[in-house]
Formats: sequence, C-alpha cells, structure tokens
Amino acid sequence: MGARDLLEPIEQASRETLRDLQLERLKKTLYSAYERIPHYRKKFAAAGVHPDDLKDLSDLTKFPFTSKDDLRQNYPFGMFAVPMAGIVRVHASSGTTGKPTAVGYTQSDIDTWSLLMARSIRAGGGRSTDKIHVAYGYGLFTGGLGAHYGGEFLGATVIPVGGGFTERQVQLIVDFRPDIIMVTPSYMLAIADEFERQGFAASDCSLRIGIFGAEPWTESMRAEIERRMGLQALDHYGLSELIGPGVAQECAESRDGLTLWEDHFFPEIIDPDSGSVMPDGESGELVLTSLTKEAMPVIRYRTRDLTRLLPPTTRPMRRIERLKGRSDDMLIIRGVNVFPSQIEAVLGREPQLAPHYLLEVRRPHSLDELDVLVEMRGELSGKLSAEENAALTQKAQHLIKAYVGVTATVRVLEPGTIERSQGKAKRVIDRRPKS
Ligand code: DLL
Repeated sequence: MGARDLLEPIEQASRETLRDLQLERLKKTLYSAYERIPHYRKKFAAAGVHPDDLKDLSDLTKFPFTSKDDLRQNYPFGMFAVPMAGIVRVHASSGTTGKPTAVGYTQSDIDTWSLLMARSIRAGGGRSTDKIHVAYGYGLFTGGLGAHYGGEFLGATVIPVGGGFTERQVQLIVDFRPDIIMVTPSYMLAIADEFERQGFAASDCSLRIGIFGAEPWTESMRAEIERRMGLQALDHYGLSELIGPGVAQECAESRDGLTLWEDHFFPEIIDPDSGSVMPDGESGELVLTSLTKEAMPVIRYRTRDLTRLLPPTTRPMRRIERLKGRSDDMLIIRGVNVFPSQIEAVLGREPQLAPHYLLEVRRPHSLDELDVLVEMRGELSGKLSAEENAALTQKAQHLIKAYVGVTATVRVLEPGTIERSQGKAKRVIDRRPKS
C-alpha cells in the first residue's frame, strides 16, 4: 500500500477542527484578494466591507459575489494575486458564449490540486496500485491534466489517452487493462457503443471504477453505465474558476451525493434570484469561495450550478446532491421551467430508449415548441414497425408531460443518429430568435 492510500488527517477530523481551519484560511484568502487584486479591493470598498469584518464564517455573507462577468472584465490575467513569474500553469474555460475566462496556478496550487484529485480518486475506491485511463480532454480544459496529476500523486499508473479516437480508446482498455476510467459520462457511453461495435463484451473489461463528471448526468445514466461497463460509476464535480476537477467527489462506500472538499472550498447555497443565503438542505445555486488558492483566490463565486447542501456522512465535510443542472441551462418552454436532466431522467424510465438525446427548442410562431430527439436501444434497430415506433413516441411524450409538465414532440430515431460527444455533451439546440 502507498502512503497516499490512507485517509488524510482532515478527512477524519471533527467538524470543529474543520471549521477552525476554514476560518483561518478564509481570513487569509480575503486579505490576499483585497491586498493583491484591485478588482476585489474596489468591490469590497463599494460594498463597504473590509477583510477585518470577518470574525466568523457567517460574516462571509457581507462580502459581494463574484460572477463570470467579473472574470471576463479582467480577462486574461487581471484576477491573479501573484506576478506572472509565480504562475506555473494557465487553463481556460471556453464557455458557451463570448470570451473565455483564464485561470492561473502557482506551484503550490498545482500541488493542492493534485492532492485533491488524489483524494477524490481514493474516495472513489482507487488505490496506488491501480492503472487509470484518463479520457478527459487534455489541454486548456482542466479535466485531463487534473485527473493526470491526481493519479500520479496517488502513486497510480496514469494512461494519458485524452478525448477522442474512440476506436483506440477501446483498444487501449482491452490491451492495457486499466482499473479506473476518468471521462465524461456521455463519452463513456460512446466508448461502450464502440466496444459493442468491435464485438467485445464491455461488461467483461478490466475497469472496476469510473469517475465521471464535467457535465450533468442522472441516476438512470449511472445504472446504464454500470450495467454496460461492469464498473462502479461515481460522480465528480469541479469547475475551472475554482481549480478544475477536484472540488467534490462521491465516496464509493456511501454513494450518497458528493463530498465537497470543504477544507479548500467554502460552500454556500443562495436563492439565485434574490441572492439571499439559504439554510442547508434547501435547493439553490452553489456559491464557492476558495480557501487555499494562491494564484487566483475567488470570493463567493456564483457557479450557476443548482444543488443543495447535505450533512456530512463518511467525512467531516458536507455533501452536495447530484447537480440538477445550471441555472443558465434552464429552458423556459411556454412558462414551464425545464432542465435537460429532467428530460433525461424521464427518458431513462423507458427501457426501449437509449440515453442519447437532444432537445431542440423552436418558436415557429409566437409559442415555444420543444422537440425531443431520442434514440431507440441498439437491439431494436430496424425492428420497430411504424406502429410500434408511434406507440413508443406516444409513451415518451406522455411521460414528459406527466413528469416534467411540458408538451413535447418526441422523435424516436435509429441508434447512432445523434452525434456523440467526446467531452461535454451538447444537449440543447435553441433555435428561438434572440430577444
Ligand atoms: O468541467 C472540470 C471538471 C473536469 C469537472 C472533469 C469534473 C470532471 P469547467 O469546464 O469549468 O470545468 O466546467 C464546470 O461543468 O460549473 C458544472 O456546470 C459542470 N459540471 C462539472 N462537473 C459536474 C457534475 C470542469 N459532476 C462546469 N455534474 C460546472 C454536473 C458538472 N455538472
């Protein structure tokens, strides 16, 4: 067994010890942001607050939020707290609209990140003796390099495959016999399809654990991946603005939501409309403050991710529930709020449908219309009569109306018709005119 296979002391500490550490680190972070980043100094002044005002963790609510816009305004490096000479790495998030945002790391940030990723892999059941197939993209996206450094820090054997070249992914899994795969859940399914295409039984492959994240997914998708790949599928959450992956990980022994590494990130849940802080257990937008980041401390970052905070179970840190989606992914269809993950969950109830789907929103006249394109299961290919297809379509439309509350036009398509992602899946095409 390697040294890193053991829990860190903080993973076994009391809530009190954890809170003391958070307070000490939070004070340091607020001073660093205030003293070294003009943007924070200005924002704190405008809100009439000073780092000295933080006496207790609850005082954090006095400080202003940071949004993606703040990062954009200071693009590329205006939010860095250290001179460029101290920055050893830059990543960027492409974002769906407009300019990307850039993030920076000191060597100590890279070390923290590696530690948190190693901790996450260990919490997922990974050990230093494992081989890890990394199929998250390498490059400016944080997924590949984050998983890579974490795996090495744990002492495991890292296979840096990256995203894409799906045929080769299968060949490398068959030949190298990895124990763990780290990849987006949607790309995992594309790899599972490719296994079948090549005539291999994916469920017999060497993989024992999958650490999946970077995009919303559902319990039915988890069941599908576990069944087809014969592994334990666990959820992993993170975002570039805070560090990349390595913010929260589902523990293998409890599978009860994601433990948020609270010794490095302080979580709050707010009402996304009013901005007021909500008590633990209530659903809202996750707001995160970094506690140890040197290069780019982030104060009360509005993630736009919707979830709730749950009490600790296997670690002293609180958990977050599986993410429901992002507030900016929410579609409003004729007044009904719809998250793609809700549709995914509903389609997952119908065993004849595959978890490959795309939502198209149109406004042909004055009203919004939602088209749901979904594939039938591989084994049904070419076998459904027109009547059977119509019955399946009807059933899916009915389920969506009953569980999501919106009228949709469903089209059940042949397997392989919907484009597969090699990273984060694109689930929505919004063709409505921009207002
Ligand atoms: O996606 C970092 C990452 C890489 C996380 C690998 C997990 C695994 P960004 O590209 O900045 O960073 O995108 C962050 O992705 O705010 C969420 O909206 C979404 N996201 C990440 N993990 C999950 C998850 C990486 N487990 C954004 N469930 C976040 C749902 C997730 N959404």
